[in-house]
Amino acid sequence: MIIVPGPASQILGVKVARLLKSEVVNVNFKDFPDGETYVRVEGELNNKDVLLIQSTYSPQDKNLIQLFLLIDAVKQMNPARLRLVIPYFAYARQDKQFKKGEPLSIKVIENILEYLGVDELYTIDLHEPRVLDYLKIKAKDLSAMRLFGEYFKKRNLSKPLIIAPDDGAIHRAETVAKVLGSEYVSFDKFRDKDTGEITMDYKKLNVKDRDAVIVDDIISTGGTMIKAIQMIKSQGGNNVYVAATHTILIGEARSKILSAGAADIIGTDTIPSEISVVSVAPLIAEQFRGV
Ligand code: R5P
Repeated sequence: MIIVPGPASQILGVKVARLLKSEVVNVNFKDFPDGETYVRVEGELNNKDVLLIQSTYSPQDKNLIQLFLLIDAVKQMNPARLRLVIPYFAYARQDKQFKKGEPLSIKVIENILEYLGVDELYTIDLHEPRVLDYLKIKAKDLSAMRLFGEYFKKRNLSKPLIIAPDDGAIHRAETVAKVLGSEYVSFDKFRDKDTGEITMDYKKLNVKDRDAVIVDDIISTGGTMIKAIQMIKSQGGNNVYVAATHTILIGEARSKILSAGAADIIGTDTIPSEISVVSVAPLIAEQFRGV
């Protein structure tokens, strides 16, 4: 298998290649003076099994265009098969028409991937994995939650309670809790579609003098995590750790979460930053080892 790491996932791509002991092909990229995107795959892919890895975090549109151009470049080099990993999938949260007149953005992206000839698609902790059902090609959502469980195991937490900020994320809390052999619970969260304001129903927790880990797929504005931290702290929780696969952390989100009382914020390298202390490389490598 040959790994093609897109510009947005270069280090992650190399880490995956090391774990799989696979060859890496360099991608040359730049912007033309007018801002248009240039990519070139520097290597031979003829009849090879290709794994392209490109995340689509901010600037999402730029990273998506790079991805589309890379797929075309790879396809023109006659690979035996093109499998694609999109660690952070932009537009995945626009997975339904919330208001009349809106597009179904995720489906638009998926249609383009199919049209360009991707053979298989892999994502990580999609907000709603059912959106993969729109695809005719093989598609699978992987989860980094087990990796978070292993990470927190090493941090020796005190009687940890694993918390999902809303019921939709309860399965994530459950996976982390299983690794730690601890309890898990979820809050009930509501977001105002117009203002984005978050409210959370009060929930009595058995968290006094215990550590807590709040797990989610995404931290964007930080509003969800802040509400959850306040709920835990107001009931005597000890250290509150915040972990999410995709740490977008818009504007002052990071400092606001820490000011709300979080002991630490832990992310992965689907969106690389200094808080990406958990790498999803082993998760991706595990999926493709020997296949
Ligand atoms: C939505 O339900 C997601 O799972 C996350 O909880 C949400 O995207 C986090 O957004 P924010 O950080 O802006 O509250």
